[in-house]
Amino acid sequence: MKKLIGLNKVKTAVFISGTGSNLKKLHKFSLLKKSPIKVEMVISNNPKAKGIDFAKKKKIDNKIYTFKNRINDENKILSFLKKNEITLICLAGFMRILSENFINKFKGKILNIHPSLLPKYKGLNTHKRAINNKERYSGCTVHFVTSKLDSGKIILQKKVQIKKHDTPKNLAKRILAQEHLLYVKAISKLYANR
Ligand code: GRF
Repeated sequence: MKKLIGLNKVKTAVFISGTGSNLKKLHKFSLLKKSPIKVEMVISNNPKAKGIDFAKKKKIDNKIYTFKNRINDENKILSFLKKNEITLICLAGFMRILSENFINKFKGKILNIHPSLLPKYKGLNTHKRAINNKERYSGCTVHFVTSKLDSGKIILQKKVQIKKHDTPKNLAKRILAQEHLLYVKAISKLYANR
């Protein structure tokens, strides 16, 4: 019975480059009966990503593509995803830019989590820039991925207050805790009544 429930879930690949704390939360969520997705594989450009150790420990299929030759690696990834009937990609701290060709092959099926209140602070060093600009709030955003960096349609956002003596490090920590909740919420919003 359990297997049958699993079969109905959206087969999902999570792309990471580092720690993989969002991956962990997505995986934990995906094991719940109520989850519309199942994390079937993890892809990383970084062989040393901690998230890869996690995938191995949990016996989630995982692959490394360094992206030294992006077109080649993307083609390999596309055929691997196809072979495994993956229909959703969640980028979670994935530090490589995907080509327009790749994104078009998964139109509307690639999500990303970004540590700012988009459209503010696209790109890197979001917390430092928000603090330097004396923002009162920052936060995180789950959005669709398009070929324009951090610019696809927003699915959900969560505001986080910036405190007087915040450093980029402690702000990042508080925002990351919200990212973990937001990603799952956004996926439920998109796929719950499919
Ligand atoms: C997160 O803050 C994510 O928003 C950003 O990179 C970080 C990844 O963290 N793009 P983790 O690897 O999921 O722990």
